[in-house]
Amino acid sequence: MRTLTLVTTILALVALPVKAGQPTRTGRFSHDQLVRYAEKYGTPLYVYDGDLIEMKFHRFRSAFAAAYPKVKIYYALKANTNLSIVALLRKAGAAAECISLGEIRIALGLGFPGQDILFTSSSKSPDELAFAVENGVTVNLDSMGDLENLIAVVERLQKKVPISFRINPDVDPKTHRHIATGHKFSKFGILIAHDEFIAAYRRALQCPWLEIKGIQSHIGSQIMQLEPFIRNVELVSLAVRRLKKELGIELEFIDLGGGLGIPYQDGVAPLTPRTVAAEVGRRLKTELADLGYLPTLVLEPGRYFVGDSGILVARVNSVKHTPYRHFINVNTGFNHLIRPLLYEAYHRVRVLNGTGKLGLFDLAGNICETGDILAQDRLLPTPRPGDYVAFLDAGAYGASMASPYNSFFMPAEVLVRHGRDSLIRSRQTMDDLTRNQILLDELR
Ligand SMILES: Cc1ncc(COP(=O)(O)O)c(C=O)c1O
Repeated sequence: MRTLTLVTTILALVALPVKAGQPTRTGRFSHDQLVRYAEKYGTPLYVYDGDLIEMKFHRFRSAFAAAYPKVKIYYALKANTNLSIVALLRKAGAAAECISLGEIRIALGLGFPGQDILFTSSSKSPDELAFAVENGVTVNLDSMGDLENLIAVVERLQKKVPISFRINPDVDPKTHRHIATGHKFSKFGILIAHDEFIAAYRRALQCPWLEIKGIQSHIGSQIMQLEPFIRNVELVSLAVRRLKKELGIELEFIDLGGGLGIPYQDGVAPLTPRTVAAEVGRRLKTELADLGYLPTLVLEPGRYFVGDSGILVARVNSVKHTPYRHFINVNTGFNHLIRPLLYEAYHRVRVLNGTGKLGLFDLAGNICETGDILAQDRLLPTPRPGDYVAFLDAGAYGASMASPYNSFFMPAEVLVRHGRDSLIRSRQTMDDLTRNQILLDELR
């Protein structure tokens, strides 16, 4: 018996250098649990922690509610449009920030009333505008052209519509260039510095069908510093004061957009909602002190609510060694998680059940593109074919950006709430892949 114990101890010590430093948990999931989900539902698989989403929503809302008297929180559906996740956030108390007819219809279908939906695309079609007007959705206008299109629609429908304008304050959000939206070269919003925004509100005042409700400014995404948020507050407040002074307009809401980042790498300190809320609330109250009225503060985060709740679990197909690189070939790729390719984004990776020797690996996707590398130079235990790997913090702009490129099936999605796992999107099938395609008779 003693010999056996000794042998076990020696074996454990030998295995230690490999195991040491390798986490056995990811967020609230144990790696065994994630492996069980992978075997139950197949891979690639998005797994979401519903309790975490809810907790983050409440944390965010209470931080802002403590810092400013009137607050309304929207969820930016684009971050993750799965019905169950949007519904979970609606139940928690979120309103819906939407970018397309599809997102508006998802929100309406889930029971969001029109007055809790904000439509913010920078390029809206007449059909989309008409649908928004018919359903009492607030239209957030992006340009003079957008405004004229809406005026044409409401004059035709003879129907009132609540509106706001998205302004561009020209603020550097200190984030990746593809997700910096509020600088003067971006396609978004009406430039504040050129007074075009005053002209836009003036023009809106002339149309009796438009009810001016607010102002909006979303400067970018994955923002990890306080200063750009504060600069946005200052510039939007200036605009709000000018609207009152020059046009006599009192707004119901000031929408400062989303953009709060999450730490994707170990050792990066988060910017907490409490820190942002305290400073934004304080500054807003100071900036608006002489305004004579108090607008509601609106925020519309996406990533903060869902980003770190989601994990993409994939299966290892093979491990490939060349004289130059070592690759772990997985059964997913940028078709399911495009952030590394699109934003040079970093996602932490775990080998969920591998115990092999540690090595420096690139995680290579199965898409036929050189750029399909999901992670580079990661120190990981060498997996065996059939082992599972997890890409962390994939809940935002992961599944919602997935595509059927190379005719791979879109991944299944699972939501875990109160310890119970439920399928919230089934894996695509061959029929799904070819649905809507028409094979011409003459080519059969
Ligand atoms: C207009 C608008 N609002 C809100 C968001 C949500 O941003 P985030 O997910 O960074 O909070 C976005 C994202 O790009 C956006 O474009």
